Amino acid sequence: MINFTNKFDDKCENWGVFVSADKLLLKTSKLEVEDMVKINKFLKKIQKSKDEKKIHSFDLSEDKRCFIIILKEKLINFELNNLGGSFRNLVASNKGLNKINLLISENLKNKNLSEEELVSEFMYGYVLKSYSFDKYKLKKELDPVTKIDFCVNKPEKFNKEFETLLSVKEGVFLARDLVSEPPNVLNPKHYTQEIMKLKKLGLKVEVFGEKDLKKMGMNSLLGVGQGSANETFLVTIKWNGKKQKVKPLCFVGKGVCFDTGGISLKPARFMEEMKYDMGGSAVVVGLMKTLALRKAKVNAIGVVGLVENMPGGNAQRPGDIVKSYSGKTIEVLNTDAEGRLVLADALAYAEKEFKPEFIIDLATLTGAIIVALGEEYAGLFSNDDKLSERLFKIGNSINEKVWRLPLHKNYDKLMNSKYADVQNINYAGGAGSITAAQFLQRFVSKNVPWVHLDIAGMAFSKKAASINSGGATGFGVRLLNDLLRKHYE
Ligand code: BES
Ligand code: MN
Ligand code: ZN
Repeated sequence: MINFTNKFDDKCENWGVFVSADKLLLKTSKLEVEDMVKINKFLKKIQKSKDEKKIHSFDLSEDKRCFIIILKEKLINFELNNLGGSFRNLVASNKGLNKINLLISENLKNKNLSEEELVSEFMYGYVLKSYSFDKYKLKKELDPVTKIDFCVNKPEKFNKEFETLLSVKEGVFLARDLVSEPPNVLNPKHYTQEIMKLKKLGLKVEVFGEKDLKKMGMNSLLGVGQGSANETFLVTIKWNGKKQKVKPLCFVGKGVCFDTGGISLKPARFMEEMKYDMGGSAVVVGLMKTLALRKAKVNAIGVVGLVENMPGGNAQRPGDIVKSYSGKTIEVLNTDAEGRLVLADALAYAEKEFKPEFIIDLATLTGAIIVALGEEYAGLFSNDDKLSERLFKIGNSINEKVWRLPLHKNYDKLMNSKYADVQNINYAGGAGSITAAQFLQRFVSKNVPWVHLDIAGMAFSKKAASINSGGATGFGVRLLNDLLRKHYE
């Protein structure tokens, strides 16, 4: 539990102090003089040793730990998040701390950020890093710290700032939870039930099952789920935060609960990772939760296609031709290029049904984007420079980075089919992520601003990173939430 207060209770044993990198000196009236002297001695030692580490810890006495957090003058948001994450790591390696009191040295100033931002961004990183998914373990890891009291001058202000960040955290954690669930639990049906739970926050949820989808003509989406015993769904989630009737902002997500590749079966090695092939949809669902929790003043709609890609007696074959919702026919040359088949119908539906201001889709769409960008950047494809530029800038500032790759009619040609309007893979080879994006572009009108984010490298990471504990990252929730907050509210 994190609490902002202007008065510490006396019982706390452990301390954490924020000091300035310019002047490694603690000034405060909140500590006993004896402890302050010890801390300043330690700071002198750090100064002499020219240790570059930003976070340190030492024993003030037996059973009394002290943490030092050193801040440079011009820190920006994500650097503070990262510091908070490292602090969490260090805290977690000290077992049984119970409670820590945090305070800021009186001589510390930051030029870029207000004190509220500084403190809450730090604690935000701490909280994001503390995620774990151990519901299937008999022995759960206990939280290493039960309580953190942060001493500040005006606690009311801090609580408010932090509350907003916590609603973003809720969205990020929901996305991580959904991605982490094993595929035998989170099948499309179960997924719809999880989404339905969001109704109590004021979101409007509509679920379309196979019967509805057939009537609507969503054969591209249905084809993907044809070999699975689990039913296919399309779900829409609406948040009406604006009274005026304005065009909604639309978010579309790939929700392939498990991707075996279908008849174009994937190799066994790492196939278990394909439970996170619903990562794009999880970001959309997480984002919608965040918007509702923080009562965002936007009208936003999430559309997710939930389906399982399995081989089987009734599965779709390479060579099948399906008629998509848009009316265009698709030749399915490879059943493992299924994400685009899901999105083709979801995108066309989102545009026709909601006439949105823009559409942003997210998908773990291609292995090729991992070859190109690894785990650093999501691939961005768009017909709109302004929207791309905005996402690029925000991405850099919060460290959810995107890199734009081209769309071009010469790539588009590679997706022409001999027998249908379009085919689902590029047989000429090369440009795997771009040709996938070209395929998607055929299902949105030119005049609708559209962004496709290929997050195959970002949704999940085997390694732990600054503010992820390893596993599902929730990449995209913070990026899109900030886009709305900065430019649409
Ligand atoms: N879900 C995969 C993409 C993927 C691969 C995500 C690795 C995360 C990690 C997607 O459905 C897929 O199988 N794409 C194929 C496309 C190919 C058949 C044209 C791929 O990337 O190999
Ligand atoms: Mn696939
Ligand atoms: Zn897939």
